[in-house]
Amino acid sequence: MPAFTATAPGKIILFGEHAVVYGRPAIAAPVNQVRARAVVSADPLAPSGQVHVLAPDIGLDAILDELPADHPLKMALYLTLEELGLGRSPACTIRVTSTIPLAAGLGSGAAVSVAVIRAYTAFLGRHLDDGRISALAFEVEKLYHGTPSGVDNSVVTYGQPVYFQRDQPIEIFHVPNAFQIVIGDTSVASPTAFAVSDVRKGWQADGPRFENLFDAVGEIVQQARQAIEAGQAGLLGPLMDRNQELLEEIGVSSPELEWLVDAARAAGALGAKLSGGGRGGNMIALVEPGQAETVARALSASGATRTIETWIGKKP
Ligand code: MEV
Repeated sequence: MPAFTATAPGKIILFGEHAVVYGRPAIAAPVNQVRARAVVSADPLAPSGQVHVLAPDIGLDAILDELPADHPLKMALYLTLEELGLGRSPACTIRVTSTIPLAAGLGSGAAVSVAVIRAYTAFLGRHLDDGRISALAFEVEKLYHGTPSGVDNSVVTYGQPVYFQRDQPIEIFHVPNAFQIVIGDTSVASPTAFAVSDVRKGWQADGPRFENLFDAVGEIVQQARQAIEAGQAGLLGPLMDRNQELLEEIGVSSPELEWLVDAARAAGALGAKLSGGGRGGNMIALVEPGQAETVARALSASGATRTIETWIGKKP
């Protein structure tokens, strides 16, 4: 029996995290250098309907039915069966691995869900389009984030830069002039749900102040979109810096993130900011062509435990 494999990329938020939860737009892009992978194979000798789940990265080796109802993998697989109108699974083993760091703002949860849903659907001999896959992954995201906007599952499913606004059709982004980003990991694990829930507390305590901050972020996103579509990525540097200032005011930055943001700027980056939920995890820096290695070295020298050099748009 063949094995069915699917992968999904990591992601960065270029502009607009947190404000996107409150209806403002955001721009996100896939990071193909890190990926989640799911492999599903039939187990003809296993008891009928038994689904064996293996995720060695997190020490998981379990029978699906025995996992708690709110386990993300269980939810992804049950939602897929339900979506396909199937009552019962054939006996199989699902192996999940990922090179996307956990709780680091790079979309590992969404990528695992999308890879699992795709591989399992193929194993079941069925097809789901990207919109339905993203919608199922969004349901699982609610476990991770509480009140997700849907940007992570969208960018990871479509695997392309996206302009995303809640309750609007997803817009795949055309990037006429590709640009380069260096990603630096603070190695401070920071589950997105905590940052999202703290922002909500701030918003509940002082709605007008947070609405103003979200509006300011939304304007930056619009300007960034125009700059990207006009092929003027150089203009994005100051916009990133301003977005970082607003994220500091929103309360989701951290000393470790700011240390790396400063290090990137000092090494010549055009702009830098945290990316994703914040409080830890990863930051991103926009660099001129040819400058990526210098900035990556400066980030490592300043304590980044991993750096990734990635292109937004098609690498020239
Ligand atoms: C997480 O990648 C982005 C946040 O805006 C949360 C969300 O949009 O669901 C922090």
